[in-house]
Amino acid sequence: MIIGRYPATRLRRNRQASWVRDLCSENDLTPSDLIWPVFVREEETSPIITSMPGVERLTIDELVESAQQAADLGIPAIALFPTTPPHLRSHDGAEALNPDNLICRAVRALKSMDLNLGVITDVALDPYTDHGHDGIILDGQIDNEATIEILQQQAYVQAQAGADALAPSDMMDGRIASIRDYLDDHGHHNKLIISYAVKYASGFYGPFRTAVGVGTLGGLKDKKTYQMNPANSDEAMREIAQDIQEGADMIIIKPGMPYLDVIQRATTQFNIPTLAYQVSGEYAMIKAAAQNGWLDEDRVVLESLIAFKRAGAQGILTYFAFDIAKKLC
Ligand code: PBG
Repeated sequence: MIIGRYPATRLRRNRQASWVRDLCSENDLTPSDLIWPVFVREEETSPIITSMPGVERLTIDELVESAQQAADLGIPAIALFPTTPPHLRSHDGAEALNPDNLICRAVRALKSMDLNLGVITDVALDPYTDHGHDGIILDGQIDNEATIEILQQQAYVQAQAGADALAPSDMMDGRIASIRDYLDDHGHHNKLIISYAVKYASGFYGPFRTAVGVGTLGGLKDKKTYQMNPANSDEAMREIAQDIQEGADMIIIKPGMPYLDVIQRATTQFNIPTLAYQVSGEYAMIKAAAQNGWLDEDRVVLESLIAFKRAGAQGILTYFAFDIAKKLC
């Protein structure tokens, strides 16, 4: 065998000019990859989220205007999270089932506009409970079955308001099948279920909890009895397999950047559309460093987003969606 003289292969040849770098690019990022998570507020609630500079809570009127712009930029979907006024929070999160709650009103306002924009709602109780947990507490524990019973009704209420996709982020066992059955039994067989199949008990959610103003988690001081242990990825594969079996249409892996290996494993092992969630703490880290002049914001945002595509994700939920979509256009 004849081997070329050293160095026969020069990988730098394909990097010498932007035309050839573009031609050889293995992945790309477009606005159609992005889902924009938005915090919705009542008029009397402050828009300011100190831990997420550049993100504001929007009133329904502001949301409608921004949603129009997002659709014009080619963003395919937005994900809504409510900042529920404190007086409407309770031990059992009953406000989640109020067909006129903030989220349902926001969904109705959006859907009345006939935009080409998917509306995703979060199915979980934490924005509605006074303790800030995602489920119902019985005997000092998050009760799986009692929680699911409420969640399926919450999903139904959101579906009735017009949500296109329901995204359960609570991590109860069996909730995808229960919600699917409940929606189907009530005439909503076309509503998508985007499951937060793999959600870790993560410190990176801190700024989000400030944004929706969730409680201190009471005696159960963390979410480790339902969200996953960051040490595990075999378990993540079991979660995904179950949710596919139970009828999920897409899955979300969350947080994003610390779990790129899990995204890659998931997209190699399963053939279901998989979304990465670049969570509030990831956003805050980049913003804080950029504000200090320590990082070039646009550059690291694009780099962090293409990493999700490289790992195999079909789409990314990111608080940068709106600003980055403008730059990608
Ligand atoms: C809870 C929920 C959380 C996030 C989305 N849905 C926080 C939590 O589980 O405590 C976090 C998102 C983010 O940090 O950006 N249902």
